[in-house]
Amino acid sequence: MLKRCVWVLSALLLGTATVVGAEPPTFLPNLFPFPNPHGILKTFNESGKLDLTGPFFQSLGTNGRSCATCHQASDAWSVSAAHVAERFEETQGLDPIFRTNDGSNCDHDIDTSTVHGRRQAYSLLTSRGLIRIALAVPAEAEFEVVSVSNPYGCTETSTLSMYRRPLPSTNVRFLTTVMWDGRESSMQTGTIPIKPLGSNPGDLQTDLLHQSVDATMGHAQATTAPTPQQQRQIVMFELGLSTAQAVEFGAGSLEAHGASGGPVALYNQDSFVGINDPLGQNPRGTAFNPVIFTLFTPTWAHEQSDNHHRASILRGQTLFNSHPINITGVGGLNDATGLPLMKGTCGTCHDSPNVGNHSVIAPLNIGIADVKNPLNPLGLDYLPVITLKNTAPGQDNGKIILTTDPGRALVTGKWQDIGKFKGPILRGLSARAPYFHNGSAESLKDVVEMYNVRFGMGLTESEKADLAAFLSTL
Ligand code: HEC
Ligand code: HEC
Repeated sequence: MLKRCVWVLSALLLGTATVVGAEPPTFLPNLFPFPNPHGILKTFNESGKLDLTGPFFQSLGTNGRSCATCHQASDAWSVSAAHVAERFEETQGLDPIFRTNDGSNCDHDIDTSTVHGRRQAYSLLTSRGLIRIALAVPAEAEFEVVSVSNPYGCTETSTLSMYRRPLPSTNVRFLTTVMWDGRESSMQTGTIPIKPLGSNPGDLQTDLLHQSVDATMGHAQATTAPTPQQQRQIVMFELGLSTAQAVEFGAGSLEAHGASGGPVALYNQDSFVGINDPLGQNPRGTAFNPVIFTLFTPTWAHEQSDNHHRASILRGQTLFNSHPINITGVGGLNDATGLPLMKGTCGTCHDSPNVGNHSVIAPLNIGIADVKNPLNPLGLDYLPVITLKNTAPGQDNGKIILTTDPGRALVTGKWQDIGKFKGPILRGLSARAPYFHNGSAESLKDVVEMYNVRFGMGLTESEKADLAAFLSTL
């Protein structure tokens, strides 16, 4: 019932855009409800109603795209693969997201003149919501690209094609590194690593300004950069947004009666770079607290004592905060600390309270791009295989790695950075499937299954369901 009401409401408010002759809406009310498969997502905008006319929503380049082409309010400011597929059907593959510079599987030797051709050319975008990110191999890299086996073409070895999910352009005030590989907050690209003390939020703002230029020149194929004023407007707009799931269809409101889910509570969440870091980088020196999420309480669950959804979500939150995980073989963690086994929890890596990203710069390799990882249950066969060989003097010289995406290593050139990505903000997940940088987890159940297998967590079927239910409310 609730589900239907929301659909009708959304259709009424948004549908005006499709009425013949009607102008598209110029704003949305603040906290406008967007339904998704698990409930309702809302965005709280610091400055009130959501103005849909600013530069974030304007075509600033040459191919008709705006930031909002790939960062949609309904999809937690990313794009869900399901919605991209709908856009393909509605426009026969002509919506501006379907552009050959980075929307198609490859940018050359493809035929986009027919619907059939476009269906093939954009298959990774419509099936997994993936954008092609082409990056040059750094000149000083400690490795060489032996070969690229890519079923879609784009087998060049000097510039590699990777396929990545758009990260949400909301909740960005919590970011401690920009982009999956952190390349918009790295010295190598002339941007600034986001540091724990002093220079923030200046670091983050500078990086986001730079990012807005790169996105306009790249994704939107602009010939001139956005003006400084447009850049500032884009970044201030992003920094003012807080997005989270506000309603779960079975559990009801996630914001009342002892629950503090939803975007307004998130807006009021305290945060600083290094908050709750488990490895001593908290500038205030406070001890790490593994209880990362405190959104749901027994009071909330008991308020509707017969509500199975609430009980399950609460159990899932407890699993996230306390289920032991034997962390082994994680590049950037086990090697960096010299501890081959770390007894941790989900929050060892997702340590930022009620947000869930790394609170410091911490590119980690949990094996999501690793072609040879026997402990990853998620199939990668829809992605290219990139073969890298270590060419640096030393014990690893001559070693080979097969990966679908070198990640951080394409920024630093370092062998040890292959396969490292940031742990993203874990809010608004229900609105933006699939998950991980390469979209290899099609559902939150897949995410949980990955961790269960990769780290031998020994979760029962009902524990897996509880953890996935909890993630769906974020
Ligand atoms: C064609 C799709 C597309 C368009 C258009 C686009 N983006 Fe993105 N955006 C992405 C992808 C894909 C990523 C992740 C890429 C990566 O990490 O390598 C991303 C990442 C980001 C991030 C990083 C978030 C984080 O957690 O690090 C921000 C911020 C962002 N985009 C803002 C913008 C802005 C502002 C614009 C308009 C000027 C824009 N994007 C246009 C696809 C797009
Ligand atoms: C050892 C560090 C580590 C641990 C432990 C860990 N994560 Fe992650 N998590 C990451 C990293 C790194 C990524 C990004 C990986 C990628 O895409 O390559 C990630 C990504 C995710 C994502 C995908 C987010 C998105 O936007 O696509 C979810 C959901 C998630 N983790 C949930 C969990 C849960 C639940 C647990 C506990 C069962 C957990 N994580 C434990 C490091 C960790």
